[in-house]
Amino acid sequence: MKKILHFDKTAINAMENRYRANFINSVTGYKSANLIGTISSDGIENLAVFSSVTHLGSNPSLIGFITRPTTVPRHTYKNIHQTKEFTVNHIHTDIIKNAHQTAARYDEHISEFDAVGLDANYIDSCKAPFVAQAHIKIACKFVNEYAIKENGTVLIVGAINEVFLPESALENDGWINLEATKGVTINGLDSYSKPQLLDRLSYAKPDHPITSIRNK
Ligand SMILES: Cc1cc2nc3c(=O)[nH]c(=O)nc-3n(C[C@H](O)[C@H](O)[C@H](O)COP(=O)(O)O)c2cc1C
Repeated sequence: MKKILHFDKTAINAMENRYRANFINSVTGYKSANLIGTISSDGIENLAVFSSVTHLGSNPSLIGFITRPTTVPRHTYKNIHQTKEFTVNHIHTDIIKNAHQTAARYDEHISEFDAVGLDANYIDSCKAPFVAQAHIKIACKFVNEYAIKENGTVLIVGAINEVFLPESALENDGWINLEATKGVTINGLDSYSKPQLLDRLSYAKPDHPITSIRNK
């Protein structure tokens, strides 16, 4: 039989800091993998990897992400305050190292695009830079922020303004096949995985058997 480990709150609190960060960042499961692109009011580009981007609702189309405590300079946060815009760019299998390197604490005057070897591109309707190499890109307008008082983090809420994606990844019912775009998922704080699509399933209703809706 497999040995099951059990950690109570005391045991978790007693973990060495880095160990606990790895443990807690992995324990809730796989996370989204995105690069957030911003620009300062002086025109300095910024790019950083975020695993906390999540959908908040589709009508209106809102997303959110968590930014760490702003006790040290957070360029993404500062730029969003200045310009009210940001882009969300999916990380895929070919750019995981470049993407990960954006987590390094670069000086404010350095563009992570140049530092990690990714290209910025722009559209007229959005000040913030996109990652040219990304396959799925979203332009967002800042809507609001909520302080998480318990630990000093901040939930940033953005409205989705524009989406770019390959036609081949979009199915008739609006579902996006992320496997087709080579999208990755983040496990913890330093691991990137390639998910495999198992099935698409019918809308769950009481007393209705679940069926596969893949290739329908
Ligand atoms: C895999 C991974 C996921 C991360 N997710 C987040 C996150 O969700 N929120 C956050 O504030 N920082 C996150 N970070 C840390 C930022 O990428 C890092 O602090 C970066 O330097 C922030 O850049 P900025 O100061 O230019 O905004 C993550 C780092 C890694 C390696």
